[in-house]
Amino acid sequence: MITLEGITKIYHTGEVEVAALKGISLHIPEGEFVAIMGPSGSGKSTLMNLIGCLDQPTSGRYILDGYDVSALTDDQLAWIRNRKIGFVFQSYNLIPRASAVHNVEMPLIYAGDNQQRRERAMAALESVGLLERAGHLPNELSGGQQQRVAVARALVTDPAILLADEPTGNLDSESSIEIMKLLRDLNQQGRTIVLITHEAEIAAFAQRVVRVRDGVVVSDERPAVATEMAR
Ligand SMILES: Nc1ncnc2c1ncn2[C@@H]1O[C@H](COP(=O)(O)OP(=O)(O)OP(=O)(O)O)[C@@H](O)[C@H]1O
Ligand SMILES: [Mg+2]
Repeated sequence: MITLEGITKIYHTGEVEVAALKGISLHIPEGEFVAIMGPSGSGKSTLMNLIGCLDQPTSGRYILDGYDVSALTDDQLAWIRNRKIGFVFQSYNLIPRASAVHNVEMPLIYAGDNQQRRERAMAALESVGLLERAGHLPNELSGGQQQRVAVARALVTDPAILLADEPTGNLDSESSIEIMKLLRDLNQQGRTIVLITHEAEIAAFAQRVVRVRDGVVVSDERPAVATEMAR
């Protein structure tokens, strides 16, 4: 599904060069649930942006679902991103004046895909357990519910991969567990998930934990025992 080979990313800001990724090689098979952990500034979001086709590596190769992403133009990159990737961020990024279901429809509207748009958005809301909140505005929902709407929005295009960058960063621990259980259910239904988190309790929901530090992978493990919280 995802193969990264010797990926580097160097940011140029004025005179300064920052080597954010220094040679990352990683293979993520279809259906896997991977957590990427590491300290602040270690390159997690940079890696996420590359995996999510939001940015291109400075060098190295990235194969996504058979496509050599590192060779694509910006337009092709946008095409593959819209079809293959669903994003969930720390801030839910919902449109305040749009209902939950309308927010979920947005990726379909952007893609010009009007085929059964409302039905698909309702089905996505149902998959996150929010059918009865479809008509609510974001400020009429709890933080955990807003993030579930954001997960539904990420799922509505039926992406090959769900990318989540600190999805529980703004949530209390109860809502965090709720979101992680939802992600785990989605994974058990076959969805490939890449999750970025600082927190070990959150990473414990994944099958595999990849640790990055200073732009390189320092460990890659499949913990045999989940923590108490993730059970
Ligand atoms: N657009 C940018 N321009 C220049 N430098 C950047 C840019 N984005 C990130 N960096 C630098 O690259 C390094 C990795 O940043 P990145 O955002 O990937 O870290 P992170 O692991 O996601 O950190 P955090 O846990 O704080 O979110 C940092 O040193 C950061 O300052
Ligand atoms: Mg980050």
